[in-house]
Parts: sequence; structure tokens; C-alpha cells
Amino acid sequence: MGIMNNKLQGKVALVTGAGRGIGRAIAHVLGAAGGTVILTARNESDLMQTADNVQDAGGCAELIPADLADESSIMHLVEAIKEKFQTLDILVNNAGMVFSGLLENASTDDWDRCLAVNARAPFILCREVIPLLRKAGQGYIINISSVVGVKGYPLQSIYTASKHALRGMSISLAEELRKDNIRVHVICPGGVDTELVSRVRPDIKKDELIQPEEIAELVLYLVTHKGNAVIDDLHIRRATSSPWF
Ligand SMILES: NC(=O)c1ccc[n+]([C@@H]2O[C@H](COP(=O)([O-])OP(=O)(O)OC[C@H]3O[C@@H](n4cnc5c(N)ncnc54)[C@H](OP(=O)(O)O)[C@@H]3O)[C@@H](O)[C@H]2O)c1
Repeated sequence: MGIMNNKLQGKVALVTGAGRGIGRAIAHVLGAAGGTVILTARNESDLMQTADNVQDAGGCAELIPADLADESSIMHLVEAIKEKFQTLDILVNNAGMVFSGLLENASTDDWDRCLAVNARAPFILCREVIPLLRKAGQGYIINISSVVGVKGYPLQSIYTASKHALRGMSISLAEELRKDNIRVHVICPGGVDTELVSRVRPDIKKDELIQPEEIAELVLYLVTHKGNAVIDDLHIRRATSSPWF
């Protein structure tokens, strides 16, 4: 049973990387708020599990697999959304991958792939769905960057470049879309308890990691808060890490 409420009743959200980790938690929370959630990632059986979670929480789920490294696959996703829903209220660019290693050992392909998934795909998706968000009357773009969208760690130069790119794009886009009642938010988490962090930061104790649900709650706040206060950029750190990254 989910935390049923109707704040997103009638709203349609696209969550990328919804097959596991943070994306699955975001999909679950948006579904529990009554939203229809379009789930995308490459692995269909992961998406089916997320769809079950969303439906158990009282939301509607639609599954559209896509490879975000491939522009034609993104365009198929967009076409399917236009055909099935004709509208979109929320875009969550969450899908991401890490490249971990010394810059001097990285290939140009390593750079291209990481930047394609983490920065180019959000760019293409923003470009393609802005008309739908505009038509909806009020729209939200939530871009999941990282602590390395703000600072840098060794062995993460390519990943860091991709997350700075995503955050930088968001800052300009937020200004461009202001007049259209579309908000662009960036979330910069530190270590979150997912498969991804277990690959890049095995040194962090599991019980000290942020839970994916904690990030999802912040997304829900951003897309449902109805006052005059707006938070553009959220930096979330582990309680056991240094303050003020
Ligand atoms: N975990 C952390 O500590 C942390 C911290 C800061 C920021 N972040 C960011 O948060 C986001 C989610 O990360 P996570 O930790 O939840 O990672 P995760 O558990 O590895 O999940 C990543 C998701 O992205 C999808 N994805 C990866 N490559 C894709 C591609 N080419 N096409 C389509 N989907 C793709 C994956 O599905 P498929 O493999 O099935 O395609 C999966 O659903 C990422 O952008 C990550 O950089 C994570």
C-alpha cells in the first residue's frame, strides 16, 4: 500500500532510468500521488517491476523501453508519448551511467557514451517535450545531476563533466522557459543506496547512504508545492559527510 493522495491526479510524468534505484523510487512516489507515470530504461523486466510498484501505490504506469544513448530510440519514445498521451506535465531526467577511471586511461568512446546518456539524452528529451509541457499550462523538468555537478572527485572526470553539463544546461533553460510557466529544477545528491554507487563508491558504508525514497520525496515536493517559494537547485548530502559541498 502506498501513501495515497491525489496531488498528481490527471498529471502525466515521464521518468527515465525508472527500472531501478532512484528512478524507480521517483516513479513510485509520483504514482502514489495519483499520477500517470511513463517509465523508460533499456531493461523491460526491470520496468515491469517498477510498473507493479506504481500500480500497487494507486498510480497508472506505462512502459516504453528506450536506449537513451541512441537518438532514434529517444525519438521513438517521444512519438509513443505523443500518440498515447498527447500531453506531458513532468519530465524527470534521471537515467545515468558512470565512467570511473583516470582521464588519461579513458577513450573518446568512454567520453561519448557517458555524455550521450547523462547530458545529450536530457537535452534531446527537453527539446522534444517542451511543446507538450507548454501546452499543459504548467510544466516541470527535474534533472538529476550529482554532487559532481557542483564539485569533482578523482577518477570521475568524465562523469563529472556530464553532470556539470546537465546542471549548466538546466540553469539557462530555466530562464528560457520561465515565461511559459515551466520550471527547471536540478537535484544534486551525494551517495544514494543503488547499484550505481556500489560500483563507484564501495568505500561508503551501506547504512550511511541516502535512500532513493529520500530523493523521490524531494521530487514530489518540487512538483506539488503550491506556494510562492521555489527551490531551483537542491544539494543533498549524506548525514555523515562534510557539510556544504
Ligand atoms: N546513486 C548515487 O549515489 C547517485 C548520486 C548522485 C547522482 N546520481 C544520479 O542519479 C541517477 C540515477 O542513478 P541510480 O543510482 O538510481 O543508478 P542505477 O541504479 O544504476 O539506475 C540507472 C537507471 O538508468 C537507466 N539507464 C542507464 N543507461 C541507460 C541508457 N543508455 N538508456 C536508458 N536508460 C539507461 C538504467 O536502466 P537500464 O540499464 O535498464 O537501461 C537504470 O534504470 C543517475 O543520473 C545518477 O548519475 C546517483
